[in-house]
Amino acid sequence: MILQDNFARKFTYLRLSVTDVCNFKCSYCLPDGYEKPSSVCDPLNLNEIKTIARAFANLGTKKIRITGGEPSVRKDLTDIIRICSETKGIETVALTTNGYKLDKYIEQWIDAGLTNLNVSIDSLDPKMFKQICGQNRLTEIFAGLDKAAKLGLNKIKVNVVLMKQYNQNEFNQYLEWIKDKPISLRFIELMQTGDNKQFFMDNHISGETLKQQLLDSGWTRVISESHAGPAQEFSHTDSLGKVGLIMPYSKDFCATCNRLRVSSQGKLHLCLFGEEGLPIRQWCQQEESEALEQKIVEYLKLKKVSHFLQDGNSGSTRHLAMIGG
Ligand code: 5AD
Ligand code: SF4
Repeated sequence: MILQDNFARKFTYLRLSVTDVCNFKCSYCLPDGYEKPSSVCDPLNLNEIKTIARAFANLGTKKIRITGGEPSVRKDLTDIIRICSETKGIETVALTTNGYKLDKYIEQWIDAGLTNLNVSIDSLDPKMFKQICGQNRLTEIFAGLDKAAKLGLNKIKVNVVLMKQYNQNEFNQYLEWIKDKPISLRFIELMQTGDNKQFFMDNHISGETLKQQLLDSGWTRVISESHAGPAQEFSHTDSLGKVGLIMPYSKDFCATCNRLRVSSQGKLHLCLFGEEGLPIRQWCQQEESEALEQKIVEYLKLKKVSHFLQDGNSGSTRHLAMIGG
């Protein structure tokens, strides 16, 4: 069984947000820091997560990415990783983190079955990093990253959002930085959300511009497997590191969509943008996952062909901490 939508896209990848709380203040996401909404209830608990992982695995999901907010603000993150990695059918357990607790916990996380790691590092310069993310943590994040590599984790990605008024001129430094590191760098094009309209207008850099710069300096496109997802990948004979461009505004971005999202409040999001999320929590209360599976199959019929971001649609998503990007 593999989940498939009305447009013949197959879904083998789940992004599971385990909290919407974050301890950073990234200027494009939560510039004023996390504010507790008035009506929010507890995030998914371990039993609910177990049922969700099982349901998706039974429906053909092979990879679960744990996201936030910042997932490491949860004290039971290691248990969450273990639950996912022990679910039959799940081959890849990935974590997206701001790296705040990486150095301290990476060993535990790997022991629990973590296979892939994405760390967001929006500047290589401590001052600029602080300016973008509101935290002075770059040294510790680098230490954590080194530790992860030393422990043998070989699927490491670093996410960067380049912005005109901040880190735009670091593009070449990033390329220099990965020359001798087996890291896959991901430049994520700044996305407009409900809360960052002016910021977006002031700072957005088109992914096409970066793509041209890469091609001009000898990077070549790596042809990815059919289910690799929407990133465009590039490699260079002089670089151990690779580069991926995530360009949500590019034509056909949605054609390769292979992912579904579940928020920490137990809602299924068929797309990162433009919908409220469909309730699944009531079907997560028992260990058996059949009822939940049926519900997911039913909901998937509602998935639209595109996010319509090009038309200025940012839907009900105020910021990506709500569903983890
Ligand atoms: N545009 C682009 N990327 C974003 N992220 C969060 N908000 C945005 C946005 N508005 C990124 C973070 C992190 C990933 C989960 O999503 O930088 O790397
Ligand atoms: Fe936190 Fe991630 Fe948003 Fe930054 S982008 S504020 S690390 S949720």
